[in-house]
Amino acid sequence: MLNLVSPSILSCDFMNIQSDLAPFEGESNLWMHLDIMDGHFVPNLTFGIPIINQIAKVCSVPLDAHLMVSNPKFHIEEMKDFGLTNITFHLEAVEKAIELAQFAKQFYPSVGISIKPNTEIDELSDELLRTVDLILIMSVEPGFGGQSFIENSYEKIYKLHELRKTKGYTYQIQVDGGVSDTNAKKLREHGADNLVAGSYIFKKDKAEYLNLVKSLR
Ligand code: DX5
Ligand code: ZN
Repeated sequence: MLNLVSPSILSCDFMNIQSDLAPFEGESNLWMHLDIMDGHFVPNLTFGIPIINQIAKVCSVPLDAHLMVSNPKFHIEEMKDFGLTNITFHLEAVEKAIELAQFAKQFYPSVGISIKPNTEIDELSDELLRTVDLILIMSVEPGFGGQSFIENSYEKIYKLHELRKTKGYTYQIQVDGGVSDTNAKKLREHGADNLVAGSYIFKKDKAEYLNLVKSLR
């Protein structure tokens, strides 16, 4: 089982992104999580393609894009040469998730599918579970940092973990929203491989970032 942490830059200091990312350089088992919102799939708006392009040029940590957009194919195509490690889109945003995942796999080492808190695991087909490299369980409604963890997420994570064992799927399980040192251990015990954390990490002093990452492992 993996033991990854993905700091979400949604909570970083946007006036100083590069220096806020510096403490993570050279750290292993770490991805930087980039939340792309379009003000349509979710009400909020963050950053888009030009900013991701700039970040990719200066950041040596593997980059993980979380697309909270209504037309993920556009971003998948536009960012295909940026060297991103993983790209995740939402099941709720598309009609043919398997086709889009297969398309994205031509360009990205890892492709993920995400589901919102009210979407059930059963809505992920066997073929989709076989196709993707990562399942992202949203443990808050997507759109904003700093929300409270939704407790029924444990059950979904465990279900995916069990399915993986019985059916031989190879996806990693990532969890995003309300993650902190108070629930990290329990999340790992339920099968989570990759914990995304925004406000838990970036709302503290920069000197603390790596210790906070370690507390989630
Ligand atoms: C929310 C984003 C998250 C967000 C998590 O829609 O997908 O990645 O940054 O923030 P916290 O860790 O503060 O809940
Ligand atoms: Zn996210």
